[in-house]
Amino acid sequence: MKSNKDKEVLKSQDLSDSDDDINLNNQEEEEFVSSDDEQKESYSLQRVEPKLPKTFHEKQNMPRLILVLEQANIETTKTKRGIELINCDDHQKLITKMKKSYEDYRPDCLLALLDSPLNKAGLLQVYLKTNLNVLVEVNPQMRIPRTYKRFLAMMAQLLTKMKIKSTSSSVTLMKVIKNPVTEHFPLGVKKIGTSTKGKLLNVNDYVKQIMSGEQRKKPIVFVIGAVSVGNPAMEADYIDECICMSKYSLSAAACCSMVCDAFEDLWGIQ
Ligand SMILES: C[S@@+](CC[C@H](N)C(=O)[O-])C[C@H]1O[C@@H](n2cnc3c(N)ncnc32)[C@H](O)[C@@H]1O
Repeated sequence: MKSNKDKEVLKSQDLSDSDDDINLNNQEEEEFVSSDDEQKESYSLQRVEPKLPKTFHEKQNMPRLILVLEQANIETTKTKRGIELINCDDHQKLITKMKKSYEDYRPDCLLALLDSPLNKAGLLQVYLKTNLNVLVEVNPQMRIPRTYKRFLAMMAQLLTKMKIKSTSSSVTLMKVIKNPVTEHFPLGVKKIGTSTKGKLLNVNDYVKQIMSGEQRKKPIVFVIGAVSVGNPAMEADYIDECICMSKYSLSAAACCSMVCDAFEDLWGIQ
């Protein structure tokens, strides 16, 4: 049983989104929606609009899990049809030539993260780093497309236009930002890598332990490799320590869910 204190839900601060970038959507491009648009169709008991921290003070103090997806194999290629995101359905020959795995190009990590109760409660911030070192900031209001085809179109648009804007509001849903990712972290934040090669432990117990006391309401960084082979979340030069969450090698999406679950439990998100 959780104590009342444990059940206390940490609400995100009501931060204003003053992004005034130009909307690059035009009729030839796919239209993408924020979770705000989705809410009109769904039934939510508790409505908290997740927002990114803006000011230095908010970045330093807003409690949240900052999750970095490392080495996502996301690249575009020019074809007869135009610029496309390399994917396992349309570019098998190219992927074989590049000696990469077909499984590498998948939206499931982003779906697991942005659909999580933790994100809906405004306590998750996601950065995506590609194999070509492109760093992307993902707005928690982003609703990841439900079909693979639309996901590919969205990522191709992101890599060519450098941003994705909601078609129904001024919100920037995804944008390419400057490296290194550490420049976007709060000062002094703890950074945890994940790998089968790390120290095996129970992630729920570990999160409770490192987030005890004052740290409970502070931001923290976890890094997960968005790959099917290799350990980029252990090799990232900015991590403080590396943990193993299971004796099995799990998919990145399963790891994302495990880490989100642990923080939902910690912060009483249901
Ligand atoms: C499919 S795995 C990559 C394969 C790699 N051999 C591994 O397990 O670390 C994708 C990512 O999920 C995370 N991961 C997978 N299994 C894990 C485990 N048992 N403990 C911690 N992280 C894991 C790591 O971040 C890894 O980079």
